[in-house]
Amino acid sequence: MASRVHILFQTFVLSVLAATAFSLSPHYYKNVCPKALPTIKKLVEAAVHKERRMGASLLRLHFHDCFVNGCDASNLLDPTPTLDSEKNATPNKNSLRGFEVIDHIKAEVDKICGCPVVSCADILAVAARDSVVALGGPSWKVRLGRRDSTTANRTQANLDLPNPSMDLPALINNFKNQGLKRRDLVALSGGHTIGFARCFLFRNRIYNATNIDPVFAKKRRATCPFTGGDSILAPLDPTPVHFDIAYFNNLVKQRGLFISDQALFNGGSTDKRVKTYSSYPEVFWKDFRKSIIKMGNIKPLTGNQGQIRVNCRKVNQ
Ligand code: HEM
Ligand SMILES: *[C@@H]1O[C@H](CO)[C@@H](O)[C@H](O)[C@H]1NC(C)=O
Ligand SMILES: *[C@@H]1O[C@H](CO)[C@@H](O)[C@H](O)[C@H]1NC(C)=O
Repeated sequence: MASRVHILFQTFVLSVLAATAFSLSPHYYKNVCPKALPTIKKLVEAAVHKERRMGASLLRLHFHDCFVNGCDASNLLDPTPTLDSEKNATPNKNSLRGFEVIDHIKAEVDKICGCPVVSCADILAVAARDSVVALGGPSWKVRLGRRDSTTANRTQANLDLPNPSMDLPALINNFKNQGLKRRDLVALSGGHTIGFARCFLFRNRIYNATNIDPVFAKKRRATCPFTGGDSILAPLDPTPVHFDIAYFNNLVKQRGLFISDQALFNGGSTDKRVKTYSSYPEVFWKDFRKSIIKMGNIKPLTGNQGQIRVNCRKVNQ
């Protein structure tokens, strides 16, 4: 009897420990470095003020981190003879940006904290939130306490990151692999309410698709030639520096830029949700908040796993 109570008690203590020490919390840096979060916010605001697109780029960095072996800043590691950098994966190469901003934030945060206590993975998560807010979007409490990976995997990045030619079943499956549902897919795709994309990634759609508004297709073709001009940018929605519902409004009008965007409103199971977001910004905001917190919780390294990198580009010696 006594030993059973003992075992029960032990189980209880262990699960409390697991819930406190090994799960993320918004208050993680409250005591150890209360100035960390305000510092990140100030620097993100400055970077977005200097170049509005940077808000989009920082949000995307967090997404491309979380989808490859969890939110562990693995996508910030530079290549070395023994490290196959995710920066060279197809969806990231010549595409991910904002690394210098993250380097600067990391250096300033470590300075103000007196030592490297804030992980690069947490900086990505907070910078994503502060970017969305800086561009007029919703705010949320970022769960913290992620630690940084000591490895990266380019092959895994190529497998796990979605591509802009995917149809709805492929997108649903891609998000399902991360434990995310259809609703998360639609809400998080709303990240395309900000930012830009290169011509070669949507060329096929604007020259060949039938589920596209012809006036929109013509407008996009004007700056994205049939051959050449691969890197010419187009906005992902008509208001690329405002976190609003224009992205969803556009989908309803068959003006999605990528095949993967329009797939969300193409006669399938996600049409209704797109319609809802296109009319009710507060519903989009509520769902986006919920889904991005969920995305930020994907397989974090906690406790004594991984490390707190000194330089986000390199594993500590
Ligand atoms: C659903 C599947 C998704 C696909 C197929 C996809 C694909 C892409 C592609 C191909 C680009 C343009 C890259 C370039 O021109 O080099 C892009 C840009 C972007 N994506 Fe996504 N994405 C997806 C989901 C998301 C999610 C979930 C978020 C964030 C919550 C996001 C945020 C962004 C942002 C902000 C940009 C613009 C970045 C900038 O201007 O620097 N995307 N995406
Ligand atoms: C990288 O990911 C691939 C695909 O999941 C896997 O087969 C491979 O073992 C991984 N490599 C390393 C070094 O972890
Ligand atoms: C459009 O489709 C045709 C026929 O399948 C193909 O030859 C052409 O390369 C496509 N155009 C683009 C821009 O992808």
